Amino acid sequence: MSNGNMNLTLKVWRQKNAETKGAFATYKAEGISPDMSFLEMLDVVNEGLILKGDEPINFDHDCREGICGMCSLYINGHPHGPKNAITTCQLHMRSFHDGETIVIEPWRAAAFPVIKDLAVDRSSFDRIQQAGGFVSVNTGVTVDANEIPIPKVIADEAFNSATCIGCGACVAACKNASAMLFVSAKVSQLAMLPQGQPERWSRVQAMVAQMDEEGFGNCTNTGACEAECPKEIKMTNISRMNNDYFSAKLFREESTHEHAAGE
Ligand code: FES
Repeated sequence: MSNGNMNLTLKVWRQKNAETKGAFATYKAEGISPDMSFLEMLDVVNEGLILKGDEPINFDHDCREGICGMCSLYINGHPHGPKNAITTCQLHMRSFHDGETIVIEPWRAAAFPVIKDLAVDRSSFDRIQQAGGFVSVNTGVTVDANEIPIPKVIADEAFNSATCIGCGACVAACKNASAMLFVSAKVSQLAMLPQGQPERWSRVQAMVAQMDEEGFGNCTNTGACEAECPKEIKMTNISRMNNDYFSAKLFREESTHEHAAGE
C-alpha cells in the first residue's frame, strides 16, 4: 500500500466454550500500520466487529510489555508468532507483509481447555506453583543484601530460570503437551539458592506430582519448548529437575516425609 499500511487476511479460531466445537473464521484486517503490535491489530479488528454488532475475538492480554505471561496465541504455527524470544504483545506487524494470510489459534493442550476463542484456562500452572513453588520462611525485616553469599554464576543461573513468565508456550510447542520446561524453571529458581534448600526435595516431588495430575504429557527431549520459549529458558532446567526428582525419590524420601510431618 502506498502509505505503508497493510491489508491482511486473518484465519482465527472461534470457539464458544470448552464444550462446543470450534472452527476457523476469516476476517479482513485493513489499513494496519506496520508499527502496531499484534494485539493492537486484533484490537482494530475487534472494533470493526463490535461496530457491525458481531462478537469480538476473545484473547488474553494484560501488561503488553512481555512481563506478565498472559498473552498467548499460536500464530502461523508458532507460539507467540514467527520471531524468536518475544511474546505476542511484543510482536509487531512489520514482521508480516502486505497481503499475507495469518492463521491464529489458541494454545492446544488437554491441560489448557479453551475458555473462549483464543483464550485458554492456564490455572493448571497456578496449581503446580501452589503445590511447591515457594519458600516457607519467616521473612521478618529486610535482610542485608550480602548477608547470604551466593556465587555470581549461581545467582545468574537462578535468575535466568526465574525469568520464566509462565505463558505456556512450551506446552503449546511440545507435541506431547509437556510442561517440563515451565515446572523445571520454577523448581530450579529455588533449588539453586540457599533459601530454597529446606524444601528442595519435597518441593520437586510435589510440583511434579501436580504436573502429572493436571494431565500434561511427558518430555521426550524434542527441544521445541526451548526453541519457542519467549524468555529463552534452557532445557538444562529439565535435567536439573529430573536429577533432583530422582535424588528425592531414591535417597531422600525419609527426610521429605519427616519435613512434611513437621509442617
Ligand atoms: S500481555 Fe503480558 S506478556 Fe504479553
